[in-house]
Amino acid sequence: MSATIIDGKAISQQIKDELKEKCAQLATKGINVTLAVILVGEDPASQVYVRNKKRACEYIGYKSLSYELPASTTQKELLELIDKLNSNDEVDGILVQMPLPSHIDEKAVINAIRPDKDVDGFHPMNVGALVVGDKGFVSCTPAGVIQLIKRGLPDYDISGKECVIVGRSNIVGKPMSLLMLRENATVTVAHSKTKDLEKVCKRADIIIAAVGRAGVITKDHVKEGAVVIDVGINRNDEGKLCGDVRFDEVSQIALAITPVPGGVGPMTIAMLMNNCYEAALMHNTGV
Ligand code: GUN
Repeated sequence: MSATIIDGKAISQQIKDELKEKCAQLATKGINVTLAVILVGEDPASQVYVRNKKRACEYIGYKSLSYELPASTTQKELLELIDKLNSNDEVDGILVQMPLPSHIDEKAVINAIRPDKDVDGFHPMNVGALVVGDKGFVSCTPAGVIQLIKRGLPDYDISGKECVIVGRSNIVGKPMSLLMLRENATVTVAHSKTKDLEKVCKRADIIIAAVGRAGVITKDHVKEGAVVIDVGINRNDEGKLCGDVRFDEVSQIALAITPVPGGVGPMTIAMLMNNCYEAALMHNTGV
């Protein structure tokens, strides 16, 4: 039996089209959505991500303000820019592309963004809101994974399922565990110190791989009929883009699987766009 391949590109397009429609409706009430995008330095991968985020804004009908700063920018200068954007009422969302050059403290930058403009969902206030179940912005990649499962497998019920998340980063693993808990899954977070990863993964109905190493999840980690979500974006020895999961072998036994590229990746931007919409709605209507 061969797995259902969940098409992240199509689902992200669907979400962007819904937002385009909602954005047009807001515009009739005189409300515009504005995202400020900040890139420091010239990391090629970050340049691609930022370009894609600005393109998505353009497609949906948001205004994007672009700040491309040299790698020599000081932390003080960056914090001053954030301060200016925090108090600019036109700006609904502020995104600082990570990673930042090593002389800038990422935590200090994240903490400086006003929580109601933190469309990445990285500010401790938004992370805390997720922990206690309050309203707030949720980190885009894990939010995208939930949408992938719900829209890609509409008859699948997450409630009561055994979910194993491999990876415990602040951006993916930790918020992912909280979102899965909110969906009433039974959640395990595995990481580099986990003993017998194969055994832990093998009991999962849902595996979410967010390790950042090519092909670490093999068919020996996966129970027959499991849903396998691959968050990894790696390059293999031949320079080809690949995930954390060995797609060829795992797709033979899984119920459903996400490809790399074209799985989780496009969902991150779609969820960022959704957070921007929510920010504008909150700033202009109070809901
Ligand atoms: N770098 C890698 N992923 C992300 C993300 O989701 N947001 C930001 N701002 N930077 C990133």
